[in-house]
Amino acid sequence: MSNAARSSRAGALAMAALALTAAACDLGLPAGRSPHREGNRLDMIDQPKFKPQRADVFGGRPSSVLEPPAGAVAADETPYPYLQAEAARAGAELVNPLQPTPDVIAHGKFVYENVCITCHGPKGAGDGLVTSLFPKPPSLMTQRVRDWPDGEIFHRPMRGQGSMPSHARQVDARDTWSVVLYIRQMQSQEPVAPPAAASAPASLASPSAGASASQGQPGAPSTPASPVPGGQS
Ligand code: HEC
Repeated sequence: MSNAARSSRAGALAMAALALTAAACDLGLPAGRSPHREGNRLDMIDQPKFKPQRADVFGGRPSSVLEPPAGAVAADETPYPYLQAEAARAGAELVNPLQPTPDVIAHGKFVYENVCITCHGPKGAGDGLVTSLFPKPPSLMTQRVRDWPDGEIFHRPMRGQGSMPSHARQVDARDTWSVVLYIRQMQSQEPVAPPAAASAPASLASPSAGASASQGQPGAPSTPASPVPGGQS
């Protein structure tokens, strides 16, 4: 055997031994479980890094879930300034920026028929498809809603009311104002609906009336209005 051949055979053996050792290292150490040792690539999991919900790095604050500072507003965001219970103030102060042009009303119809119709029904009567499962909303054709300024109708989808969630994430202010104009158009075409049934829970929209509503027993059957009118036979 020539010298060259011998040394290449030794080299191959050495390579094989090295490969075996390396493999044994890989298989033998539970990844990430060993105490941190500098240079051990299996310990990379122990590095200081951002882990959501974990408060043990960087001075005990969960740095990866830091809240924005109080009052921070995204560059393209205009926060809606009224609290849920401030419907009346919204109604008094807000002015519908849109005119009831055919385009705007068509857009309002589009939004209404994609978002509101499921609960409020095709003509605002509160008979949408999901009301067999979901609380039935009062009609939007009542004199009460007709008498509201635009801003009070606008306020409901922006902030939500009672069991109706806020829609401000899906429907922006412009969409909502156009829906208000579409509701106005329906109100001009549909008959006035009777006031909502008294069984509706006192809504958050009128917190001042909320306290008295529970005592006031609206619509309580206390007056025995002769169930059989004039029927003495
Ligand atoms: C998931 C069902 C649902 C959807 C969708 C929905 N609403 Fe409502 N809405 C309700 C319910 C239920 C109420 C009654 C809430 C209460 O007072 O408890 C209500 C109440 C209202 C009221 C107040 C009516 C009153 O007489 O007090 C207005 C105005 C209104 N919704 C407008 C809208 C508009 C506009 C949209 C679409 C952008 C919309 N809603 C989408 C369920 C819904």
